[in-house]
Amino acid sequence: MCRRGVAVFALFLCLVGRWPAVDGEDPYLYFTWNVTYGTISPLGFPQQAILINGQFPGPNINSTTNDNIVVNVYNFLDEPFLLSWNGIQQRKNSWQDGVAGTNCPIPSGGNFTYHFQVKDQIGSFFYFPSVGTQKAAGGFGGLRVNSRLLIPVPFPAPADDFTVLIGDWQAKSHKSLTRRLDSGLALGRPAGVLINGHSGRDAATGRDDPPLFAVKAGQTYRFRICNVGTKTSLNFRIQDHSMKLVEMDGSHTMQNNYDSLDVHLGQCMSVLVAANRPPRDYYMVASTCFTKYLLTATAVIRYAGSTTAPPSQEIPPAPTGWAWSFNQWRSFRWNLTASAARPNPQGSYHYGAIKITRTIKLVNSAGRVDGKRRYGLNGVSHVSSPTPFKLSEYFGITGREFRYQIIGDEPSKPDAPMIAAPNVINVTHRNYVEIILENPEPSVQAYHLNGYSFFAVGMGGGKWTPASRKGYNLLDAVSRHAIQVFPKSWSAIMLAFDNVGMWNLRSELLDRQYLGQQLYISVVSPTRSIRDEYNMPPNALLCGAVVGLPTPPPYS
Ligand SMILES: *[C@@H]1O[C@H](CO)[C@@H](O)[C@H](O)[C@H]1NC(C)=O
Ligand SMILES: *[C@@H]1O[C@H](CO)[C@@H](O)[C@H](O)[C@H]1NC(C)=O
Ligand SMILES: *[C@@H]1O[C@H](CO)[C@@H](O)[C@H](O)[C@H]1NC(C)=O
Ligand SMILES: *[C@@H]1O[C@H](CO)[C@@H](O)[C@H](O)[C@H]1NC(C)=O
Ligand SMILES: *[C@@H]1O[C@H](CO)[C@@H](O)[C@H](O)[C@H]1NC(C)=O
Repeated sequence: MCRRGVAVFALFLCLVGRWPAVDGEDPYLYFTWNVTYGTISPLGFPQQAILINGQFPGPNINSTTNDNIVVNVYNFLDEPFLLSWNGIQQRKNSWQDGVAGTNCPIPSGGNFTYHFQVKDQIGSFFYFPSVGTQKAAGGFGGLRVNSRLLIPVPFPAPADDFTVLIGDWQAKSHKSLTRRLDSGLALGRPAGVLINGHSGRDAATGRDDPPLFAVKAGQTYRFRICNVGTKTSLNFRIQDHSMKLVEMDGSHTMQNNYDSLDVHLGQCMSVLVAANRPPRDYYMVASTCFTKYLLTATAVIRYAGSTTAPPSQEIPPAPTGWAWSFNQWRSFRWNLTASAARPNPQGSYHYGAIKITRTIKLVNSAGRVDGKRRYGLNGVSHVSSPTPFKLSEYFGITGREFRYQIIGDEPSKPDAPMIAAPNVINVTHRNYVEIILENPEPSVQAYHLNGYSFFAVGMGGGKWTPASRKGYNLLDAVSRHAIQVFPKSWSAIMLAFDNVGMWNLRSELLDRQYLGQQLYISVVSPTRSIRDEYNMPPNALLCGAVVGLPTPPPYS
């Protein structure tokens, strides 16, 4: 029952043999996943996709707060592969984060066993392949974390709980997308939108696909909607049904009703939907927003006993415009009284009162390096290194591999030429930091931070100035892990850097991320103590400059 790493106090209790669940023998969920190529035809023509155990999207993980999740991933692709766990905080454990800066990729024909705990978290998340442009080929799936039995959930248990993965979809294979980007071409517009791997209609006949979801009149259902796409924000709605928002990126929200929701790249939202309309089929709709083109996917929701009433062909249009979406964002509030597991309850209740120790302003830009299209943050276009930064730190060879802070906390001269280099900043452990994401470009941006939740406190048009802080929500901003930045606007987030590790902050737009609009944030514990960070796991894959180096002494 007792595991290594327990505090002395807990160890004592373990030895005495009472209080069995002190450091948790939290339950274990085991998975073995085979990652392969397969052929799918979501848009009516065959395409190569990445499957997990033959499925696209991949299997759902249904877990409960503090469960240990063990996934042995076998890579049967002809190229390296890694999975990352969008929104799972990996407390003290960036070893399992599954991105190029923390993990060596699983070589073709190899396997790696992820082992992590969904510590103090609840809500709706997903996993996805993080290498290159593989996410454009699938390999993603839902990951839900239920509240533990004794923790009250701020709404009645729904009759069923559905995962709805929405995302734009490309007609080209991920390898051809990679070649395009490598040669300096743009990714190009997506060919369609998918809901759980389907566009909703048979391309040849125009007939609706079979219903994706079945409901019974009089019951209420939970839908967990995540945007797993590569390029576009999506508006989500259900014909004739209102949606009560209850959770977003792992936090319970104030339960407002919406006719439609903008779900930006990398974001997840849970809504409750009452099946309170006349029994027939209804469309669920996901369509591109903030785009010059309009691509739409539908999925049929069937009321029990409604096989004879097809859905109305009037598909509700999405609202348009910056102002509508901005106002919707402003209506999102954290439910401060709802109980739920959270990593840092004391800090989070009063986040508005904590003194900011550092402000980092990151401005995205498009540019050219060696004549080829690149994207960057504060003038630096990130390139990953053959040695994951986390391993370079652990083995003490950072000086050879990369430099910290080649960008400043403010962008340098706007007309300075873009440079391509590993972009790693370092933040003092437990510092409370404000990050401004400023977008001078005419397209919507979306960012995701690994390892943390942050408070999305403010947004506004134009450039951020210190006076913009007057408009911050310092009381009940939603604690989340992904945030959009509207065209020619800024978004402000705040967080305490209390999770030691190497953490990726990235654009969720796949072409921008691939071509450098991302960076890593290093948070080190000067004490090398297992209180702050777990040791490198024994099965860690090694690559690059750390191969053959003596293993450093473990943390104590
Ligand atoms: C995974 O692949 C191995 C080796 O081909 C096979 O034995 C196993 O049954 C596969 N597992 C699943 C779940 O497909
Ligand atoms: C998910 O787990 C919860 C809690 O253990 C359980 O009640 C529910 O039936 C599970 N759902 C599925 C689809 O397995
Ligand atoms: C690969 O799978 C084997 C068999 O389950 C396991 O023992 C081994 O630890 C895995 N490799 C890694 C690097 O996790
Ligand atoms: C907030 O959560 C509480 C449960 O603690 C619930 O009773 C209340 O209805 C929720 N408030 C809103 C506005 O959703
Ligand atoms: C960042 O790393 C550099 C080089 O190790 C160090 O000199 C500096 O103090 C660090 N800064 C912070 C905020 O940790």
